[in-house]
Amino acid sequence: MTSQSLHQSAHIGTALRRVEGQQKVTGAARYAAEHPVPGLLYGWLVSAAIARGRIRRIDASEALAVRGIVQVVTHENRPHLPFFDKSYSDEVSVPGSPFRGLYDDEIHFSGQPIALVVAEALELARYGASLIEVEYLAGDHNTRLEAALPEQFEPKRKRSTYQPPKNRGHAREAFDAAPLKVSNVYHLATEHHNPMEMHAATVVWEGDGRITVHDKTQGSQNVQRYLASIFGFKEDHVRVFNPYVGGAFGSGLRPQYHVYFATLAAKMLERSVRVVMTRQQMFTHVHRPEALQTISLATDRSGHLQAIINDCSSPTSRFEHYMEVIVNWGLMAYQCENASAEHRIAPMDIYTPGDMRAPGAATGMTLFEMAMDEMAYRVGVDPLEFRRLNYSDKDAMDDKPYTSKALREAYDEAATRFGWERRSGAPRSMREGSELIGWGMATGAWDAQFMKTSARAALQRDGRLEVACATSDVGTGTYTVMAEIASDALGIPIDRISVKLGDSELPSAPVEGGSWAAASTGAAVHMACETIRDRLVDGLAKLPGQPLGTPEVGQVVFEDGRVSLASHPTSSVALADLMDAMDVERLEATETAKPGLKGMISEMRKARSTHSAIFAEVKVDEELGVVRVTRVVIAVAAGRIVNPKTARSQIIGGVVMGIGMALHEETLTDHALGRFMNHNFAEYHIPVNADIADIDVIFVSEPDHEVSPLGIKGLGEIGIVSTAAAVANAIFHATGYRAHSLPITIDKLLETGVSTAA
Ligand code: MOS
Repeated sequence: MTSQSLHQSAHIGTALRRVEGQQKVTGAARYAAEHPVPGLLYGWLVSAAIARGRIRRIDASEALAVRGIVQVVTHENRPHLPFFDKSYSDEVSVPGSPFRGLYDDEIHFSGQPIALVVAEALELARYGASLIEVEYLAGDHNTRLEAALPEQFEPKRKRSTYQPPKNRGHAREAFDAAPLKVSNVYHLATEHHNPMEMHAATVVWEGDGRITVHDKTQGSQNVQRYLASIFGFKEDHVRVFNPYVGGAFGSGLRPQYHVYFATLAAKMLERSVRVVMTRQQMFTHVHRPEALQTISLATDRSGHLQAIINDCSSPTSRFEHYMEVIVNWGLMAYQCENASAEHRIAPMDIYTPGDMRAPGAATGMTLFEMAMDEMAYRVGVDPLEFRRLNYSDKDAMDDKPYTSKALREAYDEAATRFGWERRSGAPRSMREGSELIGWGMATGAWDAQFMKTSARAALQRDGRLEVACATSDVGTGTYTVMAEIASDALGIPIDRISVKLGDSELPSAPVEGGSWAAASTGAAVHMACETIRDRLVDGLAKLPGQPLGTPEVGQVVFEDGRVSLASHPTSSVALADLMDAMDVERLEATETAKPGLKGMISEMRKARSTHSAIFAEVKVDEELGVVRVTRVVIAVAAGRIVNPKTARSQIIGGVVMGIGMALHEETLTDHALGRFMNHNFAEYHIPVNADIADIDVIFVSEPDHEVSPLGIKGLGEIGIVSTAAAVANAIFHATGYRAHSLPITIDKLLETGVSTAA
């Protein structure tokens, strides 16, 4: 980073309100299903009622007889579709054969879309769907993870983001020899993403082989390439917009079937088509896979870890191999000479699971931190003390130092704010009337990733600056953060900056995910602004009589639309005058940020991570088993914080989801039908306002000049990691009930006798 951006940060670090907030609250911001299109047709998806088998007969004649129903698309009348799997793959697909709707009569999972009713009105399409007659040839299905375990395997081909665990020492022998140990099977339930905005696409038929697509996705260019590849459009004849995304949490990383169906129908009918999934249908595709994790820990008598054995089984579909990094987290986090891990996946008759907020870590680190708490009690030391005792300054799995790891500071600051030193260690030792009080804590970690991303900046003579990148703001605050970075780089007031995102024609960006957007897009925006800055400084020579002379770029300051000498701030030149003299209406630059930029350290040499310390207080009703999370303090070490307000929102959102993971969220399967049953908000419980009390977010200072050009690490996911463990550990402290299965619902607490346990 140049000295310029270090001393000039009027906005970076300040809690600017969302620049797109007004559009959102007034409804001016349109989501994928809200774009008016003349002559639009409405598609309604028909979902399969069996989990595996074939369609023997599908009869749409009754629906087609209804006036206003234009077409019913099935595998029998669908247009040509490509044969090879490669045509259906996308930027973040996993090994295997991606699902292809209406390709043939085969059913792979319950709820699979088997027909699209297309009509002049939404209600007609929905009515038409009720008239479709389907006869199935049902096959045997399995949706039980335990029953799938004999078939589990470690896939040979893995997706590029999957890193196999690295073992060290002799874990089994060390475990057997150690004096103190804990070994349990932990389970995390299946979860579904459930963003506010359902998956939806409005495909506008432009004629001439062109379509414009408004899609709910985390990657406009990913969807552009996917649709072009499958449906034979030229890539630049498909334009995808996703400027506003009503939450996604990973469900919009891969193109979803709604956009496939809408495009298929648009191409077939040469008309504009919209398809919106119902909330129920949101439970028929991607989800966080359930996991069975066997964690064995052993220590010496003083509590130093001697062995870690961390094995996991999780389901995948029969057509793709989805694997997330679950077991590595426990091997990285603590000092321990002997550690081994294994992760295998078991094929079931379900849709392919996928990434959901902090995929892998939210499972593997959370369950590991529940085991760590249990181990601390076995040793007889305070859970926080136990973490400190086994603290690792390095990534203990790869034996690499971190670019920064201010986790000690996070422990200290969060513990102090929480009042941890007032905790009495014994379970059931704190109470308030009929409620047992419990205090628990856990450690979180997530990657600080950096992805190749391009951005454009354009300064106009009227003093307006536009920055643009194809990346999307999935609700995280990307618009605001980019405006702040651009504002500081060029000294342009925020209200003169417009940020354009979520359009496949803009400079290229990967899917918005992995918490990498702020660091990567931020770096690209900053670089594009720097290029403009260089040109302006060069342009000074063209302005006669200006007082600045011919300074180096490092000697000037850009502020309020003017440039001045750092050493002599009172005389300055207006950028408009400078551009006049340069005879340009618009200065434009596009730059690409990629790993390995100047100052960044290579991933080969150092590990990059965010860390967190989470402390939770629960109150548990002794007779009813009702758990309230009354207080959470989370301290996050995530490098430089560009905007404390949107950053805090991200952490709060993650913590709320973590509380959901601890107490509420669980997709239940009816194994007889092979179907996710509680596919609605009445029965799939996510925390509501009444479930959430105080969440106190602390950002610890963590200057890091090696992780990314602006020192940013990313925040979208770390808040969920291990929050559920802190809650589960607090429940143990309150009740003496040691949960090995999340979520900890009331029935589990009552069954073990919350009033008598321990
Ligand atoms: Mo995130 S699960 O990479 O959207």
